[in-house]
Parts: sequence; C-alpha cells; structure tokens
Amino acid sequence: MRMHFLVTAGPTREHLDPIRFISNCSTGKMGFALAEAAVARGHDVTLVAGPVALPTPAGVTRVDVVSACEMLAAVQRHLVVADVLIMSAAVADWRPLVVSGSKLKKRTMPPVLELIPNPDILGAVAPLKGARIFVGFAAETGDPLPEARRKLVDKGLDLIVANDVSQPDAGFAADTNRVTLLGSDGATETLPLMRKAEVAARIVAWVEARCALYLQDR
Ligand code: C5P
Repeated sequence: MRMHFLVTAGPTREHLDPIRFISNCSTGKMGFALAEAAVARGHDVTLVAGPVALPTPAGVTRVDVVSACEMLAAVQRHLVVADVLIMSAAVADWRPLVVSGSKLKKRTMPPVLELIPNPDILGAVAPLKGARIFVGFAAETGDPLPEARRKLVDKGLDLIVANDVSQPDAGFAADTNRVTLLGSDGATETLPLMRKAEVAARIVAWVEARCALYLQDR
C-alpha cells in the first residue's frame, strides 16, 4: 500500500545571534537514508531537514528548517497528509532565552548563557496521531535500551530505534549503524552492524508490516 512518510533528519540549530548557535553532531545520514528507502518502496516522502550537507534524494519533497521551533511548525503543517511520522532528527533540547539580531560583541557577552527548553515535537503532535504510525529514535551513549523503552512509552510511539552513538561505527557521522528495534507490541529485534541504507530499508519494512496489520484488524 502506498503511504505518505513524513521524515525529519539532521540536527537543529538554536541561534544566540546571527553567527553563533547551539547544535549537535547529527549529520542527517539516517534520516536521508530513510527518505530514500521509503521512495524506493514507492511511497510519497516529505523530508523535513535541519542544516545538513546532503543532497535531496530523488523523488523526495524537502523542507529545510533551522531551529526546533521551525521543525515543529513544519511537522505540524505536513503531518495532516502523512500516514507515518519518523522522527530521526536530533532536535536540540534547549535554545537561548535571548536571541540577538546582530552579532554579540565579545566584551559584552554575558559569561552565562540562559537557556529555555525546546518543545518536544513528538509530544506536541501526539494528539494528532490517530491511526498514524509514529517512529522515534533513541540515540544514547552506552546501553540505549532502558532509555529507549522509557521513550517508547512516554512519547506514545509504535516503534523506537535505539542505538549507542558512542560507537565509532554507529555514531552520527558513520555510514553504518547498529540498532535495536523496539515495538509497542513488545517485539524486540537487534540488527547487526549494517549500512544506514539497509537499516532504513528494515525500518520501512517494519512500518509496512505494521500498517498491513492495522488494515487487517479494521
Ligand atoms: O532527544 P531524545 O532522545 O528525547 O529523542 C527521542 C525522540 O524524540 C527522537 O525521535 C527525537 O527526534 C524526538 N524529539 C522530539 N522533540 C524534541 C526532542 C526529541 O520529537 N524536542
């Protein structure tokens, strides 16, 4: 069945002035691989991308954003037509309380940066879920499973993809990943080290299988 995938990818940037920002090491590779894998299976894909240096996969509609608040607005706008939301973006948890419109001067910069929490995108769109399939990621340093299990429940997800980003072959910039898929039905599948393209294909296949089950149950 042809579905519409809404995929987020990359980091967000939280500016404190036009040239300085808080961000993280995400490169967007996993999210872009997911977008490509979904298109390859004949699905429609909207890719909401934070600032990354990756070309848009053929057949994908790309929406560029910078901050977490912009990403939230884009997800809210595009979720309406989506059947599946995959939040693979590494959304910055905090943003500066005050954003200067001009470059802050070194001598007037406050020594302490005041931060406020960013909205949780999955939390904010949870009321719109309905029959949509929601997939999240838990990128942790060390054993990711306990945190992944907690986030699966807390964020009301159908699937969470857990990975240990402290491993050099499974971190943000790597072309490979080693993940465990945890379903809301309790199913757990630990995949061996594989290329991100292959991990993406497995996640898309999981979503397709779950969707087929939903339709069967109706
Ligand atoms: O950052 P965290 O480990 O909590 O991310 C878990 C999941 O929640 C990821 O899928 C991420 O994209 C999503 N997330 C979100 N809004 C945030 C932070 C994370 O939707 N502000």
